[in-house]
Amino acid sequence: MNNEELIDEINTLKKQKNAVILAHYYEIDPIQAIADFTGDSLALAVAASKTDAAIIVFCGVRFMAETAKIISPQKKVLLPAADAGCPLADFATKDTVLRKKKELGDVAVVSYVNTTAEVKTVSDICCTSANAVDVVKAIPQNRILFVPDKNLGEYVKKNVPDKEILLWDGYCYVHTAIKKKDILKIKEKYPDAKLAAHPECSKEIRDMADAIGSTTGVINFATQTNIKRVIIGTEQGVTYPIKKKVPEKELFILKEAICKDMKKTDMLKLRDALLYERYEIKLPAYILENARKPIQRMLKLKT
Ligand code: 13P
Ligand code: SF4
Repeated sequence: MNNEELIDEINTLKKQKNAVILAHYYEIDPIQAIADFTGDSLALAVAASKTDAAIIVFCGVRFMAETAKIISPQKKVLLPAADAGCPLADFATKDTVLRKKKELGDVAVVSYVNTTAEVKTVSDICCTSANAVDVVKAIPQNRILFVPDKNLGEYVKKNVPDKEILLWDGYCYVHTAIKKKDILKIKEKYPDAKLAAHPECSKEIRDMADAIGSTTGVINFATQTNIKRVIIGTEQGVTYPIKKKVPEKELFILKEAICKDMKKTDMLKLRDALLYERYEIKLPAYILENARKPIQRMLKLKT
């Protein structure tokens, strides 16, 4: 079957089954192209909460599909690549968070959506990279355990200096692979090139960035400013929406910035997900119920 036939089959199955395809900006180009909705993790969570479709096919990683299921438990949520995980999310477990909480005493647990559903059940509120600063500012508690990304946590700490923010020792291997020496090499050749970086990048990168933002933030910086050359301080997938909007821009990607799990979904797996209705996200009722609360608290703040 050629690619055109595959595209037709996916579109036909989607209509027949009243399904919607959501895709993160780190997915491969053909997946982003065929999706009904692309976005960062916050926009995708909002889209999942608003869709009327019976089936949500989530082209992303497991915590994102789980978040969609938690928000819309009555819908069938499918993850086309069953093994697409997020190593950052695996830094925290429910037990380790509970242990830390006991040790620290009176703290509010703010968990990045890049966590397992179980960790969400013991969190006070969730956040994404797009709203982490606003979430931490908005909650009444002043002592916060921020789980699991220490870089995003440090970024929040800098932007909310009046609160005590305790960090978890987790990191994203993709964003921390972006190194200062590689950015400097590009800047040496193109001194006018500006760096837009994701807050999951290390401090040395955040300190030299011209803009810091979620994947949408990086895309907006590249598309909405008149800067000609942009160094992409996040996963390479964001170049697809940027190139679509501003093909004339010169983008510099870092070769290490590839999320292997986001690249596990391909067109065949997407077709099979629709055809066989696999791999369905299933979570026990108590997890669905308790993980929903911190996500809804976040969504209420945002929408
Ligand atoms: P966004 O919240 O920017 O979509 O990022 C999700 C993610 O996994 C970053 O690595
Ligand atoms: Fe997880 Fe990093 Fe991949 Fe995002 S880029 S899904 S944080 S491993």
